[in-house]
Amino acid sequence: MIESSEIEKRIVDFDSRFGRGGQVDLYFAPGRVNLIGEHTDYNSGLVLPVAIQRGTYMLIRKSDMPPVRVYSENRNEEARFDPSNIVKEDDWADYVRGVYLYASRYFGKISLFDGYYFGDLPLGAGLSSSASIELVTAVGLRSLGVEMPLERAVIISRRAENDFVGVSCGIMDQFTVAYAKEGCALLINCDTLEHSYVPYNIADSSLVIGHTGIYRSLANTPYNTRLSECQSALTELEKKLGPKKNLSQISVLEFEKVKYSLPETLAMRAEHVIFENVRVEEAALCLERGDPEKLGYLMNRSHESLRDLYEVSSPELDTLQRLSVEHPGVWGCRLTGAGFGGCVIALVKTEALESYLNTIPDKYWRETHLEGDFIVTKPEGGARKMEVIH
Ligand code: GLA
Repeated sequence: MIESSEIEKRIVDFDSRFGRGGQVDLYFAPGRVNLIGEHTDYNSGLVLPVAIQRGTYMLIRKSDMPPVRVYSENRNEEARFDPSNIVKEDDWADYVRGVYLYASRYFGKISLFDGYYFGDLPLGAGLSSSASIELVTAVGLRSLGVEMPLERAVIISRRAENDFVGVSCGIMDQFTVAYAKEGCALLINCDTLEHSYVPYNIADSSLVIGHTGIYRSLANTPYNTRLSECQSALTELEKKLGPKKNLSQISVLEFEKVKYSLPETLAMRAEHVIFENVRVEEAALCLERGDPEKLGYLMNRSHESLRDLYEVSSPELDTLQRLSVEHPGVWGCRLTGAGFGGCVIALVKTEALESYLNTIPDKYWRETHLEGDFIVTKPEGGARKMEVIH
């Protein structure tokens, strides 16, 4: 989390950018890292993410004059939009525009505002920087008098991403960024949205996020292709198994009986999803029971499945994952998020943390000539208003 003295500086900067006067409120929305359950959310399956201690902050103040003005410190870029004519401009502020648009459609006319975004979450790293911007905006609209329940904030944010920005992501990121609880992982059934908080009971171990140094925006990856491959796999499987709502409704046993009738690529995609759901259930039990060995084992199997069956890994992710699991004191490691670059998550024994952080960046650099970035984190709480201390 960012120190309050640092937040003070942003308030001064807010005033010099947008002018003084009026009540400025502060909101925070975390990023997230998924422990296990990848590419299952849009197949109505299970996921087990945590929110992290890094995220997006937004200073917000009501204004009387159009346009809406928003500034991103990370990009050093100001964007503007006219609420009566919101159009996509292919910049970072599309997440804000999308949220504002769908919120206005749902709640009616919303007041104008100036917004100042800053934070410590790497962008395009697979840590849900976009969901974090969406949720901090959706929840921040409360300062303009919008009575925004968390549930609605999630729906509006996902719509902004799906229909405005054009990435057909599942519900995991927005849901986690909104509902996460400190000290817990969230076990979400993405079909029913039933969720439970699983206490993070793995003693003497740390969660380390390792960024490969490869940035990407989901819109420029085969993410949407994977989604349609899953839909095709479902159609094929239904020919053998009868009607199914989604891939996650198909049991391992049913799948094993008919998988050879599927085109190879579709069988690979479906196999990943169906077995990943089983791994998530087991992983949630491990977390609760405090069993890092089994959890680490499941994380490694998940990585292999994403690499070999779902084909969303990359040489850099594979290198970082391999170097991590070769390190004594690492229980397990896997790519996290959509893949195609971005991050791995490693479960590291606390006694081995120092040697991990002292050796892995170097080894990774020697093999890839890329600077990895390593973040040690704990499960954090979800999107919320913060106190501004003047
Ligand atoms: C991205 C999407 C999520 C999810 C993951 C893969 O992070 O935004 O909805 O599909 O990829 O598990």
